[in-house]
Amino acid sequence: MRKLCILLGLAAVGAVHAETGRQAWLRYNQLEGVTLRHARETVPSVITALTQSAIIGSAQAELMRGCRGFIGRTPRVQSSVPKEDAIVLGTEAAIGKAFRQWHPENPLAPDSYVLKTIRRDGFRYTIVTGANDRGVLYGAFALLRKIGLGEPVEDLDERQTPYQPVRWVNQWDNLDGSIERGYGGHSIFWESGRARTDLSRVGEYGRLLASIGISVCSINNVNADPRILSGLIPDVARIADALRPWGVQVALSADFGSPKTIGGLDTFDPLDPRVQAWWNSKADELYRAIPDLGGLVLKADSEGRVGPSAYGRTHADAANVVARAVKPHGGLIFYRGFVYDHHMDWRNPKNDRARAAYDNFAALDGQFDPNVIVQIKNGPIDFQVREPASPLFGALEKTNQAIELQITQEYFGQARHMVFLVPMWKETLDFDMQARGAGTPVKALAAGRTFHRPAGGMVGVSNVGMDDSWFGNQLSQANLYGFGRLAWNPDLSSQSIAEEWTRLTFGEDRNLVKTVTAMLLSSWRTYENYTGPLGLQTLTDITGNHYGVNVEASERNGWGQWHRADAQGVGMDRTVATGAGFIGQYRPAVSRMFESPATCPDDLLLFLHHVPYTHVLHDGKTVIQYIYDSHYDGARAVRQYVRDWESLKARVDNQRYGEILAQLEYQAGQAQVWRDAVTTWFWRASGVPDAQNRVGRYPGRVEAESMQLEGYEVVSVEPWESASGGKAIQCLQSSCTAKFRYDGVAGRHTIRVQYFDQNNGAARYRLLVAGQLVDAWVANDHLPTQKLDGSSSTERTISGIALRPGDEIRIEGVPDGGELAAIDYVETEPDVN
Ligand code: GCU
Repeated sequence: MRKLCILLGLAAVGAVHAETGRQAWLRYNQLEGVTLRHARETVPSVITALTQSAIIGSAQAELMRGCRGFIGRTPRVQSSVPKEDAIVLGTEAAIGKAFRQWHPENPLAPDSYVLKTIRRDGFRYTIVTGANDRGVLYGAFALLRKIGLGEPVEDLDERQTPYQPVRWVNQWDNLDGSIERGYGGHSIFWESGRARTDLSRVGEYGRLLASIGISVCSINNVNADPRILSGLIPDVARIADALRPWGVQVALSADFGSPKTIGGLDTFDPLDPRVQAWWNSKADELYRAIPDLGGLVLKADSEGRVGPSAYGRTHADAANVVARAVKPHGGLIFYRGFVYDHHMDWRNPKNDRARAAYDNFAALDGQFDPNVIVQIKNGPIDFQVREPASPLFGALEKTNQAIELQITQEYFGQARHMVFLVPMWKETLDFDMQARGAGTPVKALAAGRTFHRPAGGMVGVSNVGMDDSWFGNQLSQANLYGFGRLAWNPDLSSQSIAEEWTRLTFGEDRNLVKTVTAMLLSSWRTYENYTGPLGLQTLTDITGNHYGVNVEASERNGWGQWHRADAQGVGMDRTVATGAGFIGQYRPAVSRMFESPATCPDDLLLFLHHVPYTHVLHDGKTVIQYIYDSHYDGARAVRQYVRDWESLKARVDNQRYGEILAQLEYQAGQAQVWRDAVTTWFWRASGVPDAQNRVGRYPGRVEAESMQLEGYEVVSVEPWESASGGKAIQCLQSSCTAKFRYDGVAGRHTIRVQYFDQNNGAARYRLLVAGQLVDAWVANDHLPTQKLDGSSSTERTISGIALRPGDEIRIEGVPDGGELAAIDYVETEPDVN
């Protein structure tokens, strides 16, 4: 019995130490030490709500939950102001009635909040109020954030207004439950064509969104299934009900062809009165079911979607016909600026996809209705690892605009690589478009501040899923958090956002906060270093999965993501003088800076210019040497992340520690694949060797094709650069072996086996050293490929193996399904200690 109690006790402790990440930054774990003592002394133990509503009810419940978690005490709830210290929630009107000393200075902008301490009769009241119920909820979350971060709360006088009036997220969820470019599991909204029966995750998501000030969520793919506007309106209404208590409104993506596909008309011509009537009655129907519907998102004439071009009409005609239908209900239309021709002739040097958004929209400035917002991706191409700000931001003066950022990491390692996107977003938000002389950064243009627009803001493509981590990677949560914080206040620094998120997500340990923050802050540069430096864009499989390395995938096809690398040089000439003229779309001051390589920032050089490999950058390096060096730097940095994270073992709960370690180890292997692929590709293209002699020489590496093979056959890998030496071995029998004699120095080593983990089987591997089994594993990850390529190439790391010259290193592979237990190489590296 005693034994059983001890076991149960241990199990309970274990449970405390296993965190799934589902609570994200809203864990409210108990504070410690001085911070806890101080919070216990200063946070009132009564919570009073003077206004009754579902949203303010959420605010009150959240404060209860947060205080209980942070302080370990359950506050008392009351509906009138008590004769003791209290947190008092309510709209301004209610607060004004209860406290005569309440004198609001100026009317609050929508969603703003105020946190203010009022002292009366010897009691201290912490007032949480806002412009509307949602503002009160935002104030409650802000107060909890302060408590969680150990900030003083006994003398508050803070008024906060969101910088971006419109703060939306888009989910690209399909009705069958899959998510386009989603990496965190199935849809939280949809399953087999209907809204999920259990929408509890939707409520949880609403809570996360509210905590960072996001007010609208569109719940279906921009590549919209027309059925969303037919039989599914009651389902949408159920989803809206789940989000509403969190002040989050639902929006929908609509298919522009709907009047024809589901409406029974023979046309979707936006200027046909029957089409207008159809949209009007559809809007009436929608708003009857969901009175607070935020609006509709439209992707038209883009990537195969139908649009106004079918009738020779403009994007303004298209946006306005829908906008007029939702206008009486207060709805907004987000019309996506992501319109381009994906069948461009790559042979014509004047063709340029980057020009598309401006070419399609700039001339329409002034023709969009006031409730239309043109939603513009941050860069002119498509969420690449580095792009200049889209010139369209600087071109629209009489049109509302929103900047679209991608929170889901499509081109950023699909949640398998750690990339904190806030520093990148900030670069774009802060970029001065010089739209009215200096002082017109993208953030101000998007917010509508520069040209006094009635609407504007930030939209994030979020794509969370059912996984406990929401994104498939615990660290990716920092991007959603950062998106919301920047939409609220783009002047927060990347450092402060990273630190805040880390402290709320992992706790106060100083080492941990320092280490994780540093990892996050350097991660974009690191990822860029090994996937596409100097503005090359992400050198991934553009026509395929957008994940693994494939340097030429972007070339010689109509998609227009060309980098034009050849034997002499690299980069896309977008100059006005000799190139595609894209640079001329910027205002003169910006275009002058970009036009000359002398003033163009090196980070964007190859996005804007074609230069010889020997072109010397501002830091004195040649372009080719920079490409080599950055890849080695990037791959080294990820190996360091693994060590940094390992140093935090005792400071993080076991579950998240293990998950993040596995993710970083995987990333380190992938970064090496990228490094070797890109550097050898450019070496072969340019013929210029690496001044540091690293490219093409891999100490300790034994190619699988040069091992002694039993059953294994040598196979060429496509693209060639994604496998070392362009070749691998695969097993076409029930099992095969590959072996070689180790001929390095004696001592402890790390052995790295580079193998291929496709998603069409679960091959098994065993590694034996001098006849002794040292590791065995199954290749059952779900990487996005069925082929041997840079996406399936995966590293298995085994450390601390004692090796002596002459030892046999032997791998046994057992294929499964389409997966043929393929191997690229084995590397041995002496352990440092
Ligand atoms: C990218 C992405 C698509 C998406 C598109 C869009 O091209 O790969 O999946 O549909 O952007 O933003 O509409």
